Amino acid sequence: MTTSLPPAGLSVRHLHKIYPPDIVALYDVNLELPLGEFTAIIGPSGCGKTTLLKIAAGIETYQQGAVAFAGEAIAGNPSWKRSVIYQDVRLFPWLSAQANIAFALESKGIPKAEAQQQAREWIVRQGLEAYADAYPAELSGGTRQKIGVCRVLASQPDLVLCDEPFSALDWNARESLQHDLLHYWYEQRKSVLFVTHNVEEAVYLAQRVVLMSARPGVIKEIVDVPLPDERWTVRRDSPQLLDIARYVNNHIADEVRKAQLLEQELGY
Ligand SMILES: Nc1ncnc2c1ncn2[C@@H]1O[C@H](COP(=O)(O)OP(=O)(O)O)[C@@H](O)[C@H]1O
Ligand SMILES: [Mg+2]
Repeated sequence: MTTSLPPAGLSVRHLHKIYPPDIVALYDVNLELPLGEFTAIIGPSGCGKTTLLKIAAGIETYQQGAVAFAGEAIAGNPSWKRSVIYQDVRLFPWLSAQANIAFALESKGIPKAEAQQQAREWIVRQGLEAYADAYPAELSGGTRQKIGVCRVLASQPDLVLCDEPFSALDWNARESLQHDLLHYWYEQRKSVLFVTHNVEEAVYLAQRVVLMSARPGVIKEIVDVPLPDERWTVRRDSPQLLDIARYVNNHIADEVRKAQLLEQELGY
């Protein structure tokens, strides 16, 4: 009997990235993620996490290696199918909250009226009706981030690339957006790659946690998180979750120390 491999999601092979003149951001990174997996990446500051996400999104180039998603090569070719959610999303300041979401849908080719209606549904689902016509400058940071996340998820990307998207938010906004993202992943079975500094967040959200070493970034270890896919049913203080978080914490502590030493040596 042959066992068939799961379909390939993000595939990164022998990836090297050097920022001129000589900053080695990624050194021979190899990563194979099955399609539809929720993966978290954790690693010390400066180890190349943002660089890796930008390369996967197709908005950053690289010198050596091969990067593909669902069998399609990514080499500096951005697409709405691979969208990044940044820590501080930039909305169009001249468009209202709802119009920002509708604009993303129209850019994807959805007709105007349909885009408006879908944008409205996202606003209602988030309980943000009161802010639908407000401009970004009139919104709190948490609400702006919510609209930014809706804008990405509404266009239904196949790969959602998250660069510490919730780290500046208060607890309520963070928890509510974590659950939105989990539901999107659970219902659509799209791939999510989630960079965070927060071990508890990584373990709470992801099916697997990728640990990166201090600069230059290489993959140090991949930790499975055998918790139910319906993560919103898991208590944050469940012993199993805390055990995995402790394990990840111990592994990462070494790398953080190395990164700090390197920072002192190099002065950045
Ligand atoms: N545009 C750039 N030009 C030069 N160096 C950069 C640039 N972007 C990032 N770097 C450097 O590359 C390394 C990896 O950065 P980054 O991917 O942002 O790491 P992380 O997101 O893990 O903190 C760091 O040493 C950083 O200073
Ligand atoms: Mg970063």
